[in-house]
Amino acid sequence: MRHVIALAIGLQFAAADWQYKSRPDLAPPRLNITIPAAKSVEKGYLFVAPFAGYPDTATEQHGPRQAGPYIFRDDGDLVWSGYGIYSIWATNFQATKWKGQDVLFGFEGDHNAGYGHGHGHTTILDQHYETIRELRAGNHKLTDKHEFHVVSDNTAVIQIYQPIPQNLTAYGASEEQQWIVNAIFQELDITTGELLFEWASLDHVTPEEAILPINPGQAGSGYNSSDAWDYFHINSVDKNSEGDYIISARDACSIHKIDGKDGSIIWRLDGKNSSFTLGQNVTFCFQHHARFHPQLKNEDEGKSIEYISLYDNSAHGTEDGRGKEVATAPTSSGKIIKLDTEAWTAELVQGFYPPDNLRSKSQGSTQLLPNGNVIVNWGSEGALTEYEAKGSILFHTYMDSGYLGLGVENYRGFRFNWTGLPNEEPAIVSLQNDEGTVVHVSWNGDTETKTWRFFAVAGKYGRKHFLGEVPRKSFETSFKVPGKQVHHVGAEALDARGKVLRITRVAKLQPEISPAMKSKAIPPMGLRTQSQAWMEL
Ligand SMILES: *[C@@H]1O[C@H](CO)[C@@H](O)[C@H](O)[C@H]1NC(C)=O
Ligand SMILES: *[C@@H]1O[C@H](CO)[C@@H](O)[C@H](O)[C@H]1NC(C)=O
Ligand SMILES: *[C@@H]1O[C@H](CO)[C@@H](O)[C@H](O)[C@H]1NC(C)=O
Ligand SMILES: *[C@@H]1O[C@H](CO)[C@@H](O)[C@H](O)[C@H]1NC(C)=O
Ligand SMILES: *[C@@H]1O[C@H](CO)[C@@H](O)[C@H](O)[C@H]1NC(C)=O
Ligand SMILES: *[C@@H]1O[C@H](CO)[C@@H](O)[C@H](O)[C@H]1NC(C)=O
Repeated sequence: MRHVIALAIGLQFAAADWQYKSRPDLAPPRLNITIPAAKSVEKGYLFVAPFAGYPDTATEQHGPRQAGPYIFRDDGDLVWSGYGIYSIWATNFQATKWKGQDVLFGFEGDHNAGYGHGHGHTTILDQHYETIRELRAGNHKLTDKHEFHVVSDNTAVIQIYQPIPQNLTAYGASEEQQWIVNAIFQELDITTGELLFEWASLDHVTPEEAILPINPGQAGSGYNSSDAWDYFHINSVDKNSEGDYIISARDACSIHKIDGKDGSIIWRLDGKNSSFTLGQNVTFCFQHHARFHPQLKNEDEGKSIEYISLYDNSAHGTEDGRGKEVATAPTSSGKIIKLDTEAWTAELVQGFYPPDNLRSKSQGSTQLLPNGNVIVNWGSEGALTEYEAKGSILFHTYMDSGYLGLGVENYRGFRFNWTGLPNEEPAIVSLQNDEGTVVHVSWNGDTETKTWRFFAVAGKYGRKHFLGEVPRKSFETSFKVPGKQVHHVGAEALDARGKVLRITRVAKLQPEISPAMKSKAIPPMGLRTQSQAWMEL
């Protein structure tokens, strides 16, 4: 583990590429939007945390240059870069409400890419991008990266991979293959960290439900605790208003509903022992991100009907091409499924199928939006699509472009509304070129500035002289003063009502140095050697 942390620190040498004059330190991914957003996309920003899926080689570099949590607009414009704020490997980045307050959260920690496990904690930020809570698992266990989900005003569910030794000879193991992963989930009080509920797979689910056997070892061979057989692999947890849970068990290709009082299994959907007869295209495998959707019940009120959604990978395998791949459908897909717990039938309400025949061997998510649209995030394929309710595509993007587009992955992707009021001061730079002075301003994470007002600062008492105003349209706003050298300049950020939100520091005029080459400031990448051979995230 120390080994991986040391390599992750090497990432900080991956520096900027001069996208923003005012923030030369930032090099966010450049989204490759292949289907521009239609008017009918849902309102809100895109929340992703892309990372390099492969180690770089002498001939190939993999993006993004700065892996981290990001908020983007639909046209690929940056709203917030969390690079360096989430300082260790981050994933599952989202906005949510905690005790009525708008917050951001993400997993931060060490990453065992080969086995698809992470060990760390959930970091919660407020609207000013300050860390207000770090939440860890209860009962002396390590939080895994797959799930953090707020399920009530002040509680959240997380999950844990706990390797334990057992006699596994009954499942085809030798006497030396003794390690198995106990897949655990917990519900915690977010404020105090108190453990409110804990469920462990080995108390309820025998290894007979595993789809991937201990041999040939695609889910671990059990020779040691690092190589423990991940027979079940919980990668999502949700809770409904009746107090019961659903979990997605990737390596059992099934969703289990769990009784919130005694932990017993209420039903299984798909897998080796399904409680339901499956209708056309319901079947899924190696899936992620199962969620309850009581809001879809409408006309089924009072009936024994439940709605869920999930991301169906229909594939499993290592990402670097060395391992074997298992595929159970031509592509991955997002799915909404209707369950009848009287007739015990499961029916596909809607499938969301990808452009470019994407099939992701790992990761992925399906988010139902308030207006009925759906966002599907294609995990290891580093892409995200928005659909209208009937499945036609409104928007599609890959997570980076050009040569850095290769091998980008993103665990989950979402759309949320967000109001960002950064504590950090806005950035300003004033550059002199042949045409005069150009001032550039930006404010990482700010969503409220509608106008930037510029002024020259003169004299001993810093008397301000109004220069002009520019509507804020993008992450960085530029203001030109043709034919003049403005030696000292400042700017004010104004909101929609013309209220001054913040004043920048005074920038001194500097000569503009244009990037000499088209390739710009690209640093050597030799330090980025972390292995990202995903097996089963
Ligand atoms: C493991 O269980 C098998 C029977 O399933 C038994 O034959 C064997 O002796 C056990 N091994 C150990 C080390 O207890
Ligand atoms: C654990 O077992 C795997 C598979 O046999 C092996 O590749 C790895 O080196 C072992 N790790 C340790 C720390 O012994
Ligand atoms: C299959 O599911 C039924 C209930 O749905 C349960 O009683 C039974 O024990 C399960 N079988 C196995 C092998 O897990
Ligand atoms: C069923 O799945 C296949 C691909 O796996 C897809 O082409 C077809 O449109 C789907 N049908 C429905 C009704 O979703
Ligand atoms: C964007 O993605 C498409 C589809 O994978 C690819 O063909 C194209 O080359 C990419 N464009 C850029 C600029 O990376
Ligand atoms: C964002 O807010 C608007 C206006 O309240 C609402 O219509 C929309 O559904 C929200 N979007 C998301 C992703 O929640």
